[in-house]
Amino acid sequence: MKAVVCDRLGDPSVLQVKDMPIPEIGPADVLIKVGAASVNFPDVLMLTADYQHKPELPFIPGMEGAGTVSAVGADVKDWRVGDRVIFGVRPGAFAEYVKVPASGNLMRLPAGWSVAEGSAFRVGATTAYHSLVHRAGLKPREVLLVHGASGGVGMAAVQLGKHLGAQVIATGSDDARLAVVREQGADLVVNLTSADFVSIVKGMTDGRGADVIYDPVGGEVLEKSMRAAAYGARLLVVGFTSGGPTRIMSNRVLIKGLSILGVRAGETARRAGSDFAKDYAVELPRLAELGVMRPHISHRFPMERAADAFRVLIDREVVGKAVIEIG
Ligand SMILES: NC(=O)c1ccc[n+]([C@@H]2O[C@H](COP(=O)([O-])OP(=O)(O)OC[C@H]3O[C@@H](n4cnc5c(N)ncnc54)[C@H](OP(=O)(O)O)[C@@H]3O)[C@@H](O)[C@H]2O)c1
Repeated sequence: MKAVVCDRLGDPSVLQVKDMPIPEIGPADVLIKVGAASVNFPDVLMLTADYQHKPELPFIPGMEGAGTVSAVGADVKDWRVGDRVIFGVRPGAFAEYVKVPASGNLMRLPAGWSVAEGSAFRVGATTAYHSLVHRAGLKPREVLLVHGASGGVGMAAVQLGKHLGAQVIATGSDDARLAVVREQGADLVVNLTSADFVSIVKGMTDGRGADVIYDPVGGEVLEKSMRAAAYGARLLVVGFTSGGPTRIMSNRVLIKGLSILGVRAGETARRAGSDFAKDYAVELPRLAELGVMRPHISHRFPMERAADAFRVLIDREVVGKAVIEIG
């Protein structure tokens, strides 16, 4: 099979399409013929071993995709050859075939969705759902501030926050991309390069501040978020696209009575018991069928141009998701 391979660490130019063996499945696995796979920021970090999960070289990048089941292991009961599915993998999605354990890694492609849309759902949706539902317990009419809102996990949080009845304020640094975020449901968008989100959030809430803050960006955005937070707010630490971990001032945490909540959507799913697994198996497919968190795709590339799919993410051109079309 053809696959995008990383055989040395570096920038996206290290990626090459190579012939690789089709993975052999075990009794509890399914083999999927991949239709499309999407790029996430952790894929970029894995190329330079800057992500918490460091795959051994050589590896095939890609954490999520969608396609058609082409073989099932002897013990697999729930999936059949020909089923159209959304899958998660750690990593390996940028290939013609991928092997995944049948349990916990698959859901059906919702009716009417393209494989490209399906390929871009899982990481954003699980991260937004785990953050807003499991960690923050977001309630209707609360004020939700979403940073990095034109990116993959940010846009999913905007969409889910609206669905859950929150008032959503979204930030980013480009007006054209923020216009799409507005179309995706944000009540208000704030361009960080030209406006002060702290005063805007305070102004919109009679000086109270945001109840829940979802932050995949970190750095100055995280520091300022503490000033935009309401007393007793929940601050979700989702990622650090601005460059790396950020020191948090404990006096601000104390004075505002803040709850700082770390988010590890994938790791929690691997560790947690049945309730969490049930949400992933039942609630996320239900939301997808309703059209909640349907991905917005701004860029599509063939496999041979996988490096360009990484570059548009690094260059902050993507609105929602960039997808690699495979089959
Ligand atoms: N905690 C979890 O379970 C979990 C799961 C998945 C991903 N993540 C993390 O969430 C973060 C976002 O991932 P993603 O896939 O949504 O990324 P993405 O699609 O690239 O979106 C990231 C957003 O961050 C903003 N940003 C601010 N400074 C940036 C910079 N210096 N470089 C690039 N982007 C910058 C960009 O918005 P503007 O250009 O508009 O400012 C961009 O839209 C990453 O740190 C990732 O590791 C966490």
